[in-house]
Amino acid sequence: MRNFVIKGNLCYSESVDAVRLLPESYLVVENGTCAGIFNELPEKYQVWPIEDFGDKLIIPGITDLHVHAPQFSFRGLGMDMELLDWLNTYTFPEESKYRDMEYAERAYDSFVKHLRRSATTRAAVFATIHVPATTMLMEKMEKSGLVSCIGKVNMNRNSPDYLCETSVEAALEDTERWICETKDRFGNTYPIVTPRFIPTCTDDLMHGLRKLVEKYKVPVQSHLSENYGEIAWVKELCPDSKCYGDAYDRYGLFGGDHKCIMAHCVHSCDEEMELMKKNGVYIAHSPLSNSNLASGVAPISKYLKNGLNVGLASDVAGGDSENMFLSIGHALRASKLRWRLLDQEVKPLTVDQAFYTATLGGGSFFGKVGSFENGYEFDAIVLDDSELDHPQELTLRARFERALYLSDDRQIAAKFVRGERLF
Ligand code: GUN
Ligand code: FE
Repeated sequence: MRNFVIKGNLCYSESVDAVRLLPESYLVVENGTCAGIFNELPEKYQVWPIEDFGDKLIIPGITDLHVHAPQFSFRGLGMDMELLDWLNTYTFPEESKYRDMEYAERAYDSFVKHLRRSATTRAAVFATIHVPATTMLMEKMEKSGLVSCIGKVNMNRNSPDYLCETSVEAALEDTERWICETKDRFGNTYPIVTPRFIPTCTDDLMHGLRKLVEKYKVPVQSHLSENYGEIAWVKELCPDSKCYGDAYDRYGLFGGDHKCIMAHCVHSCDEEMELMKKNGVYIAHSPLSNSNLASGVAPISKYLKNGLNVGLASDVAGGDSENMFLSIGHALRASKLRWRLLDQEVKPLTVDQAFYTATLGGGSFFGKVGSFENGYEFDAIVLDDSELDHPQELTLRARFERALYLSDDRQIAAKFVRGERLF
């Protein structure tokens, strides 16, 4: 049943800076795709099934553009360190457990269950270096009805023995086999090449991954300019490159001829920003993580003003929750502190901009996703804000803003992905 009509208060981004609010409107979904918004339903659609959501709010599904599935198990723990110590102390020991398929099964069941119930409809996901557990995660995500790209992580230096590729050849063979086995196997799930970050990947591994990107036309995801210690380290490791982003670009793993997501970009210089713009790199803004790991605050309104691609991300477990409403609220708060304390040249984000990054901004990585305009795939979240009680009359605009700040899974009354209703 992918031809139907839904009715409710529609809220979606019409641009980076503006939300369109359409009270009590009909949205026609034809073959899973948005095919028209109406005040009065035209006669030809009146015979189609109609789901009337009454006074509820309907927003596009949210894209989590960067999340680590194996780290979901320790969300909310270990927030007392900066990135490099945090990786060595908490993250690598936990990720090593995914060589055990029984542990992976339990942990990934929990991750997928929570993600399915959340506002997230699309996600770019890091797994671990282990191929069997990564493929199992893909199977579970496919069953969930969500759309995702999932990466077997590559790391072969500056990594503990218990979480390190055995050789470059083995890493590339494993990765190629995994790409071949998974790239056409699912409808909603596909592989993404995932070097963890430059400090954990040797030159020959990176060159080999580039060849796989070319050969199989797969996208790339990694981390960029998150933390001062990390950036200084990359400068030592890649002395010839002009900046961290340029180092990825020299490996051919920084967009241009392939889709590419770089998480964080907290401390990107102008040169790096220009290169991201030129190559169409997607920035996965992870405000919860950037606060928890004391990384800093990315200048998101500057990136948006300059026309860069920006999506929002939880970065669990650097971020402590998969609830993307928390990331929206925190993106706003963090941008205000940055403006107040650091740099009055970069304006705080607006609610409309934060919502844009969570929906259309990140959604566009997956194609025509994140809007209700004609031709967009129908991913939607129906929000019942009636329990967020208030004594006064509220406009639709006020309800929309409150719902972004105050919602969690309890407000999600229904969820659609590609025109299919998940619940
Ligand atoms: N950089 C390299 N690995 C990671 C990771 O797992 N999380 C975050 N936040 N940054 C990283
Ligand atoms: Fe991350």
